[in-house]
Amino acid sequence: MGSFRFVLAAAVLALVACAAPSRETGQGCAVPRLAASPAPGILLGDLGMPPGSLRDDEIAAMADCLGPDLDAAFARVRDKAIDGKNWTTMSTSYRASEHGMFLQVYADAAAAPSYRLYEMGARMPEGATLLKRSFRVGADGKAEAFRIFIMTRERTGYAPDANDWRFAVFQPDGTLIGETGGRGDANVRFCIECHRAAQAQDYLLFVPPRFRIDAR
Ligand code: HEC
Repeated sequence: MGSFRFVLAAAVLALVACAAPSRETGQGCAVPRLAASPAPGILLGDLGMPPGSLRDDEIAAMADCLGPDLDAAFARVRDKAIDGKNWTTMSTSYRASEHGMFLQVYADAAAAPSYRLYEMGARMPEGATLLKRSFRVGADGKAEAFRIFIMTRERTGYAPDANDWRFAVFQPDGTLIGETGGRGDANVRFCIECHRAAQAQDYLLFVPPRFRIDAR
């Protein structure tokens, strides 16, 4: 009986291993130009990338190649603010000044009507959620899915110091790094500090104009 249990457990484990989303999918994604002649210096690290060196077409190609990895990373995130929602794409894939890495911004149905008005938008309703997926590229040109950032409007009074936004950030394997007002709060307080600069526009900092899509 004992050995039967062991065999059963091993079979289940093997099945789980096969069914688990592959983290290797994106291993083949690399910017050919950088892979051919890696940039000198140590550029890897949390925000590491060859600074400013990727052309728009290279960024778009990387986003395409990494698509399945980005989808898989997002699917691993467990957060009540994102369950079962449809997302409107609000940006092309672009390199952002503040967040480092390369970003893609999405809005849910409650956030999109106001977000697409950008600086002219109104205070967003409870439940409105903005999402950023990201990827990074090393000096050797290799690209990988990176962190997922969420801002969601909680009930009135949830966070008087942040216009009732909750900020959360996840690793691409689905691990929560922190959420304001919840687990790992200390890891993410800095989100509020920076976004507070946009107090007059509901703490939203917006995609730079060149990368906006679906603006009305
Ligand atoms: C140093 C400043 C800074 C910090 C810190 C920061 N952000 Fe942002 N954030 C920005 C800027 C600038 C934008 C506009 C889009 C971009 O990055 O180009 C933005 C945009 C966003 C957006 C899209 C909604 C919008 O404002 O347009 C989300 C979601 C977001 N950030 C989440 C987070 C989370 C979660 C954290 C903490 C882990 C965080 N941010 C920390 C500067 C910052």
